[in-house]
Amino acid sequence: MVTLDKFECLFLVHLTSLAITSLCNTWMFIMKVLLGITGGIAAYKSADLIRLLVRSGHQVRCCLTDAGSRFITPLTLATLSGEPCFGANPEYHEWRPNPRVEHVDLARWADVVAVVPATANIIGKVANGIADDLLSTILLAATCRILWAPAMNRAMWSHPAFTKNLETLSGYGHSIVEPKSGILACGEDGTGKLADIDDIFDGIIATGTERSKIFQGKRVLVTAGPTHEDLDPVRTLTNRSTGHMGIEMAKAFRNVGANVHLVLGGELKSPWGIPTKRVRSAEDMLAACLELWPDMDGICATAAVADQRPEKYSTEKIKKMEEALNLPLLRTPDILSTLHQTKTHQWLLGFAAESENFVENASAKLVAKGLDAILVNDISSGKGFGDSPNTLIPITKCGSGNSIGPDSKELLASKAVNWFANFLDK
Ligand code: C5P
Repeated sequence: MVTLDKFECLFLVHLTSLAITSLCNTWMFIMKVLLGITGGIAAYKSADLIRLLVRSGHQVRCCLTDAGSRFITPLTLATLSGEPCFGANPEYHEWRPNPRVEHVDLARWADVVAVVPATANIIGKVANGIADDLLSTILLAATCRILWAPAMNRAMWSHPAFTKNLETLSGYGHSIVEPKSGILACGEDGTGKLADIDDIFDGIIATGTERSKIFQGKRVLVTAGPTHEDLDPVRTLTNRSTGHMGIEMAKAFRNVGANVHLVLGGELKSPWGIPTKRVRSAEDMLAACLELWPDMDGICATAAVADQRPEKYSTEKIKKMEEALNLPLLRTPDILSTLHQTKTHQWLLGFAAESENFVENASAKLVAKGLDAILVNDISSGKGFGDSPNTLIPITKCGSGNSIGPDSKELLASKAVNWFANFLDK
């Protein structure tokens, strides 16, 4: 086994930090998204998707089918994307000059092609190799990743011919953002409503992001959110964590190709494409983690687990009293330390929310919990809660690295995952 002296360790941390800093300036991938819009009532929702993508810095070009143009206008799409809208115009034959190889040019331009909404027709055509308009020719010519967000009547969605076509596309490695259940445009109740736009956005980012050679295919357990330690049926002990940072960490690992499992406390929505186990207390969180841990390659523990719980839970609401209430508290189990005891090849990445002496306090936790690395969060003066921007300082047994951020939690998480990939790669 190779051991490093203090100087070598510091040099390594510095080099890793330099590599990360230079990567971080360029690595947040600005994606070129070719958005196909086909003929369904949900076509109008593609306008919101374009806004979301453009606001996040991505480049969007739209390709509207003939049927799609009955539901949304090319002018709307061109205005929102800031790019010409491509496709065949039923009245004037073309919205713009259509050079012979336009479908190949557009297919090569895109980092990801997303069809939102995708009708049974376009899915059937592409699954069977039919290319009879601009969008279907692009989809067959594309060598980049492809995502489908189907929307249709419930009987069409469950028709065996359609199911077979969707399975064919899935078998080609295409991503599918499945529709939701509810009252459909036709008035019937069932599955077929276009998925939520934020889930489709997430699906596009996850589909189009470059894979990490360290994390692709690896199984990563992420804990996120607060825990609740109940006193009685109405009262609880908890903290100000929302779970935003943990959810962004889960997404960031997912985006680079990891198979993420999330154990989540709090109220936030589970992110697209990530199996999630909802938990309430620290004990619940530990039980969920212990069940998953043997199959995992590592854990990113972002959860703000309560350190104490009431000694007794009262099944009846505790009555108001005049005198002070004496509330005995017990320590909750430490999840990371418990998992560390049964660790095999697995890595452990912790988080620490500190308001002072960041490096000293976090370094002590790194050792006490047997972690590979810990990311320290500055929570002084109320910073760091909710979806506000924040800064992280990475610490390993070699010392502390350059701080990451301040950035939005989304960007911070991507940079932190990138930092950790580089650290593990060394
Ligand atoms: O001890 P402290 O809560 O500050 O440590 C923070 C790190 O330990 C975080 O990664 C957190 O998710 C984890 N933790 C844990 N089990 C606990 C408390 C914290 O795994 N009971």
